[in-house]
Amino acid sequence: MDSYVRDLLAYARPEPYDLQVIDPHSVLTGIVERHRHAAGRSGMIITLSDAFEGKSRIKADFKLLEQALTTVVTNAIEAMGEGGQLAIAISRSPARGMIRLSFGDTGRGIAPDVLQHVSSRYFTTKPGGLGLGLVLTRGIIERFGGTFSIASTRDVGTTVTIDVPVA
Ligand SMILES: Nc1ncnc2c1ncn2[C@@H]1O[C@H](COP(=O)(O)OP(=O)(O)OP(=O)(O)O)[C@@H](O)[C@H]1O
Ligand SMILES: [Mg+2]
Repeated sequence: MDSYVRDLLAYARPEPYDLQVIDPHSVLTGIVERHRHAAGRSGMIITLSDAFEGKSRIKADFKLLEQALTTVVTNAIEAMGEGGQLAIAISRSPARGMIRLSFGDTGRGIAPDVLQHVSSRYFTTKPGGLGLGLVLTRGIIERFGGTFSIASTRDVGTTVTIDVPVA
């Protein structure tokens, strides 16, 4: 089985999960590191800014959080094709007790009539896409007590905003 499909199935399973105290900076640094080569090859720039300078802590399951955020980064890279910038930021959320993880890309963006479907199961605009990434991302974040939203402007870019509870 394709390892991506295996990962998706692993985190779709309602298996017991562990809420741990996690440093989102190190999770995101690891994800950026793993995508740097592919991004560099296509002339993309990925940046990570952190208002807490590595000192914030959130409550999440490490493995699930990593999978959820990897899906968002992968989508952004796929939307940019050649060039572009993905700006990832860790910041204080306006929602009380939450930390905000945001992912702003300069990719092709999403038309308004398409946007409403992107986190529906099996919705995809990609040849060979499964349309499962964002459904599962949203599910994981909500399991942690967080929120997920996506905003986009066609031909300008897309921003995914994830709020997760402070540990
Ligand atoms: N950053 C983004 N920029 C533009 N479109 C996006 C972005 N993220 C998601 N989308 C749109 O949302 C759709 C659903 O995304 P999702 O990750 O759920 O599935 P997928 O990427 O199509 O397939 P897979 O399940 O294999 O990841 C995509 O097909 C794409 O049209
Ligand atoms: Mg995807």
